Amino acid sequence: MADRQGFFRQVIACLREASATGLMSDKGAEVLTGLSGRATVGALQRMAGLFRGRNDVCYLEIGVFQGLSLLSVALENPDLACFGIDNFSLLDPKGENLGIVRDRTARLGLANATLINEDFEAALAALPQRLNGRKVGVFLIDGAHDYRSQLMALLLIKPHLAENAVIVVDDANYPDVRQSTRDFLLSHPEFRMVFEAYSPGHPANLDKATLAKFEDGFLNGINVLVKDPEGSLPEMLPPVPDSRLLYVNEWLVHRHRLAELAPEALALAQAMLEGSDPAPLLERLRAGVTAEMAARFPDRNLHSAGLTEGRFTSFS
Ligand SMILES: C[S@@+](CC[C@H](N)C(=O)[O-])C[C@H]1O[C@@H](n2cnc3c(N)ncnc32)[C@H](O)[C@@H]1O
Repeated sequence: MADRQGFFRQVIACLREASATGLMSDKGAEVLTGLSGRATVGALQRMAGLFRGRNDVCYLEIGVFQGLSLLSVALENPDLACFGIDNFSLLDPKGENLGIVRDRTARLGLANATLINEDFEAALAALPQRLNGRKVGVFLIDGAHDYRSQLMALLLIKPHLAENAVIVVDDANYPDVRQSTRDFLLSHPEFRMVFEAYSPGHPANLDKATLAKFEDGFLNGINVLVKDPEGSLPEMLPPVPDSRLLYVNEWLVHRHRLAELAPEALALAQAMLEGSDPAPLLERLRAGVTAEMAARFPDRNLHSAGLTEGRFTSFS
């Protein structure tokens, strides 16, 4: 059995050191910018370093964006294979992030960083091939932060984790991110949280001084989990709001004719409530209504037409 207790201590030491001093070095500083706090990236660099020299284990992340976390880890751990999954579906209005990642990888001369340009669920379904049989020692979840994406990432990575492994869940400030981590921990007691850190708001809503402080730290919050099959660590769960109303509302949104336009509809409702000009938002909403939506019922759309009325397993 792996030296589990020693590994836990090393993980906690990495987190303490990153919390105090941030990045391991300023290597790559002129090339690398992105959306993760310096302590978060520093922690990833150090924890990946716990697997240095192992060619059966790798670093893996979901959410590469312009490469800050992936390339920073690869830079400090040149003998560790590092993989990043991104389909560039978010935060890329000009479609330039793939090129930026490739350019930065070349400028830094990194031979150990591999981009998997794919939806994360497809990539995780074919992970042994993508990772050439390696197991995952450090796993960063930093893709879409909806509840389902977060939970699926945690569930789908389980069979691919190394015997000792650490999972970093970024953007834990979001309550649905904490809820999925909490639900995973409650249903998987063989995992334990060892660290959590939050900031008082989203980086977009912080004043300059507070933002600077948390850019040095864990920016938009993190949860760190380890595999603990012997159950030797105390239970520690991320806090969540008492009400689960928003999750119930998801069901009501999903069945509505204009479901996919819920963000635009809310922006319009807000403008009307606040007395600002709703016309541009109404126009945006109208433009978003597709023929498929128009053909739906106003509510209780189930997408069940055409499904079987009864089907058994092929077992006989
Ligand atoms: C917050 S950014 C990642 C930041 C990055 N870790 C850094 O250090 O700057 C989130 C990324 O997740 C990616 N993403 C969102 N949904 C995805 C999906 N279904 N599959 C793969 N990547 C996805 C987005 O394209 C985006 O680049």
